[in-house]
Amino acid sequence: MCGIVGYVGKRNCADVLVGSLRKLEYRGYDSAGIAVFENNKIKVEKCQGKLDNLVAKMERDGKPSGVCGIGHTRWATHGEPSDINSHPHGNKRLSIVHNGIIENYAKLKIFLEEQGYSFVSQTDTETVSKLLDYYYDGAPVDTIIRAISEVEGSYALGIIFRDFPDRIFAVRKDSPLIIGVGEGENFIASDVPAILNYTKNYYLLEQDEIAVISRDEVIIYDIHKEIVHKELQTADWDADAAEKGGYEHFMLKEIHEQPTAIKTTITPRINEGMPDFSECGLTDEILASYRNIYIVACGTAMHAGMVGKYVIEKLARTPVTVDMASEFRYRDPIVGEGDLVILISQSGETADTKEALNISKRKGAKTLALVNVKGSSIAREADMVMYTHAGPEISVASTKAFTVQISMMYMLAFKLAYAKGVITEEKCREYVSELLEVPALIEKYLSDKNEAQYAASRIMNAESLLYIGRGLDYALSMEGSLKLKEISYIHSEAYAAGELKHGPIALISDQTPVIAIATQSDVLEKTVSNIEEVKSRGAKVVLMCGENAQIGEGVADYVIRIPECDKLLMPIVAAVPLQLIAYYTAILRGNDVDQPRNLAKSVTVE
Ligand code: F6R
Repeated sequence: MCGIVGYVGKRNCADVLVGSLRKLEYRGYDSAGIAVFENNKIKVEKCQGKLDNLVAKMERDGKPSGVCGIGHTRWATHGEPSDINSHPHGNKRLSIVHNGIIENYAKLKIFLEEQGYSFVSQTDTETVSKLLDYYYDGAPVDTIIRAISEVEGSYALGIIFRDFPDRIFAVRKDSPLIIGVGEGENFIASDVPAILNYTKNYYLLEQDEIAVISRDEVIIYDIHKEIVHKELQTADWDADAAEKGGYEHFMLKEIHEQPTAIKTTITPRINEGMPDFSECGLTDEILASYRNIYIVACGTAMHAGMVGKYVIEKLARTPVTVDMASEFRYRDPIVGEGDLVILISQSGETADTKEALNISKRKGAKTLALVNVKGSSIAREADMVMYTHAGPEISVASTKAFTVQISMMYMLAFKLAYAKGVITEEKCREYVSELLEVPALIEKYLSDKNEAQYAASRIMNAESLLYIGRGLDYALSMEGSLKLKEISYIHSEAYAAGELKHGPIALISDQTPVIAIATQSDVLEKTVSNIEEVKSRGAKVVLMCGENAQIGEGVADYVIRIPECDKLLMPIVAAVPLQLIAYYTAILRGNDVDQPRNLAKSVTVE
């Protein structure tokens, strides 16, 4: 949430900052701004709304012409989206951009007001800019160290001081920040896609490290002002991966990337037909030794965990508890030695998931991170990490990250079931080879999107709808419902089909469409009965089932047939029409699919 960037080099800084911010807009789009040195003075341009507003403003006012500066794209936490609350914040002496939350900002503000400072914005960030100004004595690194020692909360800060017009300064704690290293130019950014047009090399800034960046040099200090030497990282991703590549939206592009993403994620983990997690030391013995498994994550990643729970329990007969990280962290969970906690996260930076990881470690459990972004905090801090290889996910609504996460859940379930002796090696191989067929089935489904488009046209005017399913289909209906609400803004809920009669059926009328997911043949008839119940109360039903499922005439108003595979694996395929229904519904309603209102990706604040 919130993206920060910085550039020092020889190019037009404003252009570089805007280009880099465009790659980070998924982190928030409530406002955008830049601060650039022009004739040794700090020139600030900022305004409410998306980056395009800033670009238009600079076309009107003239853009700064310097070669060194910082930029920001905001997801509002403290203070409404407005010009005045936009970053950068500062004065003639310094300017800062911030990602994170300053928890003790109210206390700092009182102190600074007592020192004679007056505040213009409602942001927490302004207190940091004033605190830096208060301590500034001509030595930026010392100033930063003094200021951050008084700041509580999370921050990635990009700072420029008027006295140092050829340098940017950066510091971070609990919010991500990288330093891109180019030829005669250097960068700071909240995430790798922001630098890919210029360089693939970067340093990861660790907690409370301070970087001083000029065009030819990057010097990193720890909090005691000792120089830190770091290993240069290289991004696996190409610049193209963070472009729309001819698709109208990132979301549609990412939906289409799923077959490749799944293959790239699972294939390296198959050794002679069997799942192999030796990359992180997860041997059969270790895997089989865990007493309980916890899966902790947020949003879509948590739904991937729900699929994981059903599959692991079904195949490996090991109890799995799935928790929302935001709940897990405050409920004193009963985890400890002998347990495995799996943290699932696309970004690897989600604040609640990160804290759940810390708690699990403190309680003595082993932690395994399933993360998409290389070198992210969760990946670095967990005992073991397995990367999903989905490539950069730019669309705020997560799609390909989900299907690679669930594919890995299956791989874990197969391996655990085998390691515990619940399934034979032959059966395990069979499952793996079935899983390898799934990408082709998704490709087949994606070759004709008419069904999803038609289903979207049937629900686009609804004010509210329900997703129902049983077992794995229930787990999947949660994700279908989330996808729809976040980009179409139609209210929707997911219910276990058998729960309807216990309350939610009261919501049903001819104005409440129902999307029923019925890919699991063992409970198909039960779900069909629930469909009959909602239909007889007026609901229009879209049914999603396998292409060979026996469905009576007129059971549903519209049926979406999904290519068949082993029923256990059907959720991976069925996720795709659900994503497409959400996508086309949002398009039909004229919404901004890639940047839905109020949302941002990579939720680095609680
Ligand atoms: C929904 C979505 C979010 C994320 C959630 C966790 O489409 O993207 O629900 O899944 O914020 O994010 P990560 O996976 O980065 O931890």
